[in-house]
Amino acid sequence: MRFSDKGFLVTGGGSGIGREVALHAAREGAHVAVGDVDQQMAERTVEDIVADGGQGAAFGLDVTDPAAVDGFVEAAGAAVGGLDVLVNSAGIREIQSVLELSFEEWSRVMAVNASGVFLCSQAFAKRVVAAGGEGAIVNLASTLGVDGSPRRTAYAASKHAVVGITKAMAMELSDQGLRINAVGPGVTRTPLTERYFQDADTVENIKAIHAMSRWGEPAEIAKAILFLASDEASFITGTTLMVDGGWTAGKRVS
Ligand SMILES: NC(=O)c1ccc[n+]([C@@H]2O[C@H](COP(=O)([O-])OP(=O)(O)OC[C@H]3O[C@@H](n4cnc5c(N)ncnc54)[C@H](O)[C@@H]3O)[C@@H](O)[C@H]2O)c1
Repeated sequence: MRFSDKGFLVTGGGSGIGREVALHAAREGAHVAVGDVDQQMAERTVEDIVADGGQGAAFGLDVTDPAAVDGFVEAAGAAVGGLDVLVNSAGIREIQSVLELSFEEWSRVMAVNASGVFLCSQAFAKRVVAAGGEGAIVNLASTLGVDGSPRRTAYAASKHAVVGITKAMAMELSDQGLRINAVGPGVTRTPLTERYFQDADTVENIKAIHAMSRWGEPAEIAKAILFLASDEASFITGTTLMVDGGWTAGKRVS
Protein backbone atom coordinates (compact mmCIF):
# COMPACT_ATOMS: atom_id res chain seq x y z
CA MET A 1 0.00 0.00 0.00
CA ARG A 2 1.36 3.38 -1.07
CA PHE A 3 0.48 5.30 2.09
CA SER A 4 0.97 2.78 4.93
CA ASP A 5 0.93 4.69 8.23
CA LYS A 6 1.38 8.06 6.49
CA GLY A 7 -0.21 11.12 8.08
CA PHE A 8 -2.64 12.61 5.55
CA LEU A 9 -4.45 15.93 6.01
CA VAL A 10 -7.41 16.77 3.76
CA THR A 11 -9.18 20.14 3.92
CA GLY A 12 -12.72 20.18 2.59
CA GLY A 13 -12.75 16.45 3.28
CA GLY A 14 -16.40 16.42 4.26
CA SER A 15 -17.68 16.45 0.69
CA GLY A 16 -16.99 15.77 -2.96
CA ILE A 17 -13.41 15.41 -4.14
CA GLY A 18 -11.86 15.89 -0.68
CA ARG A 19 -14.08 13.18 0.79
CA GLU A 20 -13.12 10.82 -2.03
CA VAL A 21 -9.40 11.55 -1.48
CA ALA A 22 -9.79 10.81 2.24
CA LEU A 23 -11.56 7.49 1.62
CA HIS A 24 -9.08 6.35 -1.05
CA ALA A 25 -6.01 7.39 1.00
CA ALA A 26 -7.31 5.49 4.04
CA ARG A 27 -7.84 2.38 1.90
CA GLU A 28 -4.17 2.66 0.93
CA GLY A 29 -3.05 2.71 4.55
CA ALA A 30 -2.98 6.44 5.37
CA HIS A 31 -4.18 7.78 8.69
CA VAL A 32 -6.39 10.66 7.57
CA ALA A 33 -7.24 13.93 9.30
CA VAL A 34 -10.36 15.37 7.71
CA GLY A 35 -10.89 19.11 8.19
CA ASP A 36 -14.04 20.88 7.05
CA VAL A 37 -15.98 24.00 7.98
CA ASP A 38 -18.93 21.58 8.18
CA GLN A 39 -17.67 19.44 11.06
CA GLN A 40 -20.57 16.99 10.84
CA MET A 41 -19.64 16.18 7.26
CA ALA A 42 -16.00 15.70 8.28
CA GLU A 43 -17.20 13.31 11.01
CA ARG A 44 -19.28 11.40 8.48
CA THR A 45 -16.24 10.91 6.23
CA VAL A 46 -14.24 9.59 9.19
CA GLU A 47 -17.09 7.27 10.22
CA ASP A 48 -17.01 5.83 6.71
CA ILE A 49 -13.21 5.47 6.85
CA VAL A 50 -13.45 3.60 10.15
CA ALA A 51 -16.34 1.43 8.90
CA ASP A 52 -14.06 0.51 5.98
CA GLY A 53 -11.31 -0.62 8.41
CA GLY A 54 -9.22 2.56 8.18
CA GLN A 55 -8.06 5.22 10.62
CA GLY A 56 -8.98 8.89 10.71
CA ALA A 57 -9.86 11.90 12.81
CA ALA A 58 -12.33 14.70 12.08
CA PHE A 59 -11.83 18.41 12.72
CA GLY A 60 -13.95 21.52 12.34
CA LEU A 61 -11.81 23.91 10.28
CA ASP A 62 -12.27 27.26 8.61
CA VAL A 63 -9.33 27.59 6.20
CA THR A 64 -9.70 31.41 6.15
CA ASP A 65 -8.82 31.70 9.87
CA PRO A 66 -5.01 31.72 10.36
CA ALA A 67 -5.14 30.66 14.03
CA ALA A 68 -7.64 27.88 13.31
CA VAL A 69 -5.47 26.62 10.43
CA ASP A 70 -2.37 26.54 12.61
CA GLY A 71 -4.27 24.71 15.35
CA PHE A 72 -5.65 22.23 12.82
CA VAL A 73 -2.26 21.37 11.32
CA GLU A 74 -0.74 20.91 14.78
CA ALA A 75 -3.61 18.80 16.18
CA ALA A 76 -4.14 16.84 12.97
CA GLY A 77 -0.47 15.96 12.68
CA ALA A 78 -0.53 14.65 16.25
CA ALA A 79 -3.77 12.72 15.66
CA VAL A 80 -2.58 10.93 12.52
CA GLY A 81 1.04 10.41 13.52
CA GLY A 82 2.81 12.86 11.22
CA LEU A 83 2.64 15.41 8.46
CA ASP A 84 3.30 13.50 5.25
CA VAL A 85 0.63 14.79 2.85
CA LEU A 86 -1.65 17.84 2.71
CA VAL A 87 -4.48 17.99 0.18
CA ASN A 88 -6.11 21.43 -0.06
CA SER A 89 -9.61 20.66 -1.33
CA ALA A 90 -11.72 23.21 0.58
CA GLY A 91 -13.29 25.49 -2.00
CA ILE A 92 -16.31 27.56 -2.98
CA ARG A 93 -17.37 29.50 -6.06
CA GLU A 94 -19.73 32.19 -7.22
CA ILE A 95 -21.95 32.16 -10.28
CA GLN A 96 -22.50 35.87 -10.78
CA SER A 97 -21.93 38.45 -13.48
CA VAL A 98 -18.77 40.44 -12.84
CA LEU A 99 -21.00 43.52 -13.23
CA GLU A 100 -22.98 42.44 -10.17
CA LEU A 101 -20.27 40.67 -8.16
CA SER A 102 -20.07 42.29 -4.72
CA PHE A 103 -16.73 42.93 -3.08
CA GLU A 104 -17.89 40.72 -0.20
CA GLU A 105 -18.49 37.74 -2.49
CA TRP A 106 -15.24 38.33 -4.37
CA SER A 107 -13.39 38.49 -1.04
CA ARG A 108 -15.05 35.36 0.31
CA VAL A 109 -14.10 33.27 -2.74
CA MET A 110 -10.54 34.60 -2.69
CA ALA A 111 -10.28 33.99 1.06
CA VAL A 112 -11.34 30.34 0.92
CA ASN A 113 -9.76 29.30 -2.38
CA ALA A 114 -6.54 31.34 -2.44
CA SER A 115 -5.77 32.49 1.11
CA GLY A 116 -6.94 29.12 2.48
CA VAL A 117 -4.44 27.27 0.29
CA PHE A 118 -1.69 29.70 1.30
CA LEU A 119 -2.44 29.43 5.03
CA CYS A 120 -2.77 25.64 5.16
CA SER A 121 0.29 25.09 2.97
CA GLN A 122 2.40 27.53 4.97
CA ALA A 123 1.44 25.93 8.31
CA PHE A 124 2.19 22.46 6.94
CA ALA A 125 5.44 23.43 5.20
CA LYS A 126 6.82 25.32 8.20
CA ARG A 127 6.59 22.21 10.34
CA VAL A 128 8.00 19.85 7.69
CA VAL A 129 10.97 22.16 7.04
CA ALA A 130 11.61 22.74 10.76
CA ALA A 131 11.62 18.97 11.34
CA GLY A 132 13.93 18.37 8.36
CA GLY A 133 11.32 15.95 7.06
CA GLU A 134 9.61 15.23 3.76
CA GLY A 135 6.11 16.09 2.65
CA ALA A 136 3.83 16.47 -0.33
CA ILE A 137 1.15 19.10 -0.91
CA VAL A 138 -1.54 18.74 -3.57
CA ASN A 139 -3.75 21.75 -4.26
CA LEU A 140 -7.10 21.84 -6.02
CA ALA A 141 -6.81 24.24 -8.94
CA SER A 142 -9.28 23.95 -11.84
CA THR A 143 -9.55 24.32 -15.59
CA LEU A 144 -10.37 27.88 -14.49
CA GLY A 145 -6.84 28.08 -13.09
CA VAL A 146 -5.71 28.42 -16.71
CA ASP A 147 -8.89 29.44 -18.60
CA GLY A 148 -11.65 31.96 -18.05
CA SER A 149 -15.41 31.52 -17.98
CA PRO A 150 -18.29 33.99 -17.74
CA ARG A 151 -19.79 34.74 -14.30
CA ARG A 152 -16.85 33.18 -12.48
CA THR A 153 -14.38 36.04 -12.16
CA ALA A 154 -13.54 35.52 -8.49
CA TYR A 155 -13.37 31.75 -8.89
CA ALA A 156 -11.08 31.97 -11.93
CA ALA A 157 -8.87 34.55 -10.18
CA SER A 158 -8.62 32.35 -7.09
CA LYS A 159 -7.73 29.25 -9.11
CA HIS A 160 -5.10 31.13 -11.15
CA ALA A 161 -3.74 32.11 -7.72
CA VAL A 162 -3.61 28.45 -6.71
CA VAL A 163 -1.50 27.66 -9.79
CA GLY A 164 0.82 30.54 -8.85
CA ILE A 165 1.06 29.52 -5.19
CA THR A 166 1.89 25.99 -6.35
CA LYS A 167 4.71 27.15 -8.62
CA ALA A 168 6.18 29.73 -6.22
CA MET A 169 6.14 27.45 -3.18
CA ALA A 170 7.64 24.63 -5.25
CA MET A 171 10.46 26.90 -6.41
CA GLU A 172 11.24 27.88 -2.82
CA LEU A 173 10.78 24.62 -0.94
CA SER A 174 11.38 21.67 -3.28
CA ASP A 175 15.04 21.38 -2.22
CA GLN A 176 13.92 21.26 1.41
CA GLY A 177 11.97 18.01 1.32
CA LEU A 178 8.67 19.26 -0.05
CA ARG A 179 6.92 18.55 -3.34
CA ILE A 180 4.07 20.92 -4.15
CA ASN A 181 1.68 20.23 -7.02
CA ALA A 182 -1.89 20.85 -8.08
CA VAL A 183 -4.60 19.17 -10.09
CA GLY A 184 -6.91 21.02 -12.45
CA PRO A 185 -10.21 19.15 -12.65
CA GLY A 186 -12.79 19.67 -15.37
CA VAL A 187 -16.43 19.58 -14.34
CA THR A 188 -16.74 16.88 -11.72
CA ARG A 189 -20.04 15.73 -10.30
CA THR A 190 -20.08 16.74 -6.63
CA PRO A 191 -22.41 18.75 -4.36
CA LEU A 192 -20.61 21.88 -5.66
CA THR A 193 -21.80 21.23 -9.21
CA GLU A 194 -24.92 19.17 -8.59
CA ARG A 195 -27.26 21.90 -9.74
CA TYR A 196 -25.67 21.87 -13.22
CA PHE A 197 -27.07 18.39 -13.65
CA GLN A 198 -30.65 19.52 -13.04
CA ASP A 199 -30.61 21.47 -16.33
CA ALA A 200 -30.57 19.66 -19.69
CA ASP A 201 -28.92 22.56 -21.58
CA THR A 202 -26.13 22.78 -19.01
CA VAL A 203 -25.53 19.04 -19.25
CA GLU A 204 -25.18 19.32 -23.05
CA ASN A 205 -22.84 22.28 -22.61
CA ILE A 206 -20.70 20.34 -20.15
CA LYS A 207 -20.38 17.52 -22.67
CA ALA A 208 -19.47 20.00 -25.42
CA ILE A 209 -16.56 21.62 -23.56
CA HIS A 210 -14.80 18.36 -22.66
CA ALA A 211 -13.02 16.47 -25.46
CA MET A 212 -14.28 13.24 -23.86
CA SER A 213 -17.88 14.56 -24.09
CA ARG A 214 -18.56 13.84 -20.44
CA TRP A 215 -17.93 15.11 -16.93
CA GLY A 216 -15.61 13.58 -14.34
CA GLU A 217 -16.36 11.59 -11.23
CA PRO A 218 -14.71 12.40 -7.88
CA ALA A 219 -12.78 9.10 -7.85
CA GLU A 220 -11.08 10.06 -11.15
CA ILE A 221 -9.78 13.27 -9.57
CA ALA A 222 -8.84 11.53 -6.31
CA LYS A 223 -6.67 8.99 -8.16
CA ALA A 224 -4.63 11.77 -9.81
CA ILE A 225 -4.25 13.55 -6.45
CA LEU A 226 -3.03 10.35 -4.79
CA PHE A 227 -0.54 9.82 -7.62
CA LEU A 228 0.93 13.30 -7.06
CA ALA A 229 0.98 12.68 -3.29
CA SER A 230 2.78 9.34 -3.67
CA ASP A 231 6.42 8.40 -4.18
CA GLU A 232 5.53 7.53 -7.79
CA ALA A 233 5.64 11.31 -8.38
CA SER A 234 9.05 11.68 -6.70
CA PHE A 235 10.46 13.98 -9.46
CA ILE A 236 7.30 16.04 -9.97
CA THR A 237 6.94 19.43 -8.31
CA GLY A 238 5.42 22.79 -9.20
CA THR A 239 3.11 21.32 -11.81
CA THR A 240 -0.63 21.52 -12.30
CA LEU A 241 -1.87 18.24 -13.73
CA MET A 242 -5.04 18.83 -15.71
CA VAL A 243 -7.56 16.08 -15.00
CA ASP A 244 -10.18 17.52 -17.26
CA GLY A 245 -11.30 15.07 -19.96
CA GLY A 246 -9.56 17.32 -22.49
CA TRP A 247 -11.24 20.65 -21.60
CA THR A 248 -7.97 22.55 -21.85
CA ALA A 249 -6.68 20.60 -24.87
CA GLY A 250 -8.46 23.00 -27.23
CA LYS A 251 -11.78 24.03 -28.69
CA ARG A 252 -14.09 22.25 -31.11
CA VAL A 253 -14.82 24.02 -34.37
CA SER A 254 -17.63 21.72 -35.45
N1 LIG B 1 -16.49 19.80 -8.71
C1 LIG B 1 -15.85 20.38 -9.75
O1 LIG B 1 -16.33 20.39 -10.91
C2 LIG B 1 -14.51 21.04 -9.53
C3 LIG B 1 -13.78 21.40 -10.68
C4 LIG B 1 -12.54 22.03 -10.51
C5 LIG B 1 -12.06 22.27 -9.24
N2 LIG B 1 -12.80 21.91 -8.14
C6 LIG B 1 -12.24 22.21 -6.84
O2 LIG B 1 -12.16 21.04 -6.06
C7 LIG B 1 -12.30 21.37 -4.69
C8 LIG B 1 -13.37 20.50 -4.07
O3 LIG B 1 -14.60 20.78 -4.74
P1 LIG B 1 -15.85 19.82 -4.64
O4 LIG B 1 -16.46 19.78 -5.98
O5 LIG B 1 -15.47 18.56 -3.96
O6 LIG B 1 -16.82 20.72 -3.72
P2 LIG B 1 -17.72 20.35 -2.46
O7 LIG B 1 -18.59 21.53 -2.24
O8 LIG B 1 -18.36 19.00 -2.64
O9 LIG B 1 -16.65 20.22 -1.27
C9 LIG B 1 -15.96 21.35 -0.80
C10 LIG B 1 -15.82 21.24 0.70
O10 LIG B 1 -15.11 22.39 1.16
C11 LIG B 1 -15.68 22.78 2.39
N3 LIG B 1 -15.39 24.18 2.67
C12 LIG B 1 -15.94 25.28 2.12
N4 LIG B 1 -15.46 26.39 2.69
C13 LIG B 1 -14.58 25.98 3.64
C14 LIG B 1 -13.76 26.66 4.59
N5 LIG B 1 -13.77 28.00 4.68
N6 LIG B 1 -12.97 25.94 5.39
C15 LIG B 1 -12.97 24.58 5.32
N7 LIG B 1 -13.74 23.88 4.48
C16 LIG B 1 -14.53 24.58 3.64
C17 LIG B 1 -17.19 22.52 2.19
O11 LIG B 1 -17.86 22.45 3.45
C18 LIG B 1 -17.17 21.21 1.44
O12 LIG B 1 -17.23 20.11 2.31
C19 LIG B 1 -12.61 22.87 -4.63
O13 LIG B 1 -11.43 23.58 -4.37
C20 LIG B 1 -13.12 23.15 -6.03
O14 LIG B 1 -12.92 24.50 -6.40
C21 LIG B 1 -14.01 21.29 -8.27
